[in-house]
Amino acid sequence: MIGKKMQDGLNKQLNAELYAGYLYLAIGAWFEGKNLEGFAAWMKAQVFEEVSHAMRFYNHILERGGKIELMTIDKPEVIWKTPLEAFGAAYEHEQKVTKMINDLVDLAREERDNAALIGILNWFVAEQIEEEEQTLKAVERLKMVEGSKQGVFMLDKEYGTRPLTSTAQIVKPGSQETGG
Ligand code: FEO
Repeated sequence: MIGKKMQDGLNKQLNAELYAGYLYLAIGAWFEGKNLEGFAAWMKAQVFEEVSHAMRFYNHILERGGKIELMTIDKPEVIWKTPLEAFGAAYEHEQKVTKMINDLVDLAREERDNAALIGILNWFVAEQIEEEEQTLKAVERLKMVEGSKQGVFMLDKEYGTRPLTSTAQIVKPGSQETGG
């Protein structure tokens, strides 16, 4: 049975993952408005990834006899002026998520909750390396082509090749398969 503190922390993280999906959706819509459909497609693929992350927390809480508490999802601020700023917002958010996961690891250790540590948080520690890496890589590549429309168009085309994750890949209870 999951403890109350851990349950609250994981429910908060479930919300943060849904917010991340909402943020990627907002960035995707911003790119669509700029006719940069490759970047938009990449962002939309990431929305499904974030929903799959949220579902991992959902499943873990329920598997351990806990209670799901759904909270309000904040409205993402749409304040970007360039593709670089838009990816910069994504990278910044991933860094925040990494910190939240690290805080949950600390809480799991304090609570001696090895089930949370091994059952879900270890996976997220590794996943956040990838999440930060891919957004940082985009930021750095966009910096390289700053001022070049042709460079941005080339990157847009490349980012459009990311496959859209199917909702069917959202993890089921007990599954430890990666969400990508
Ligand atoms: Fe679920 Fe992008 O972190």
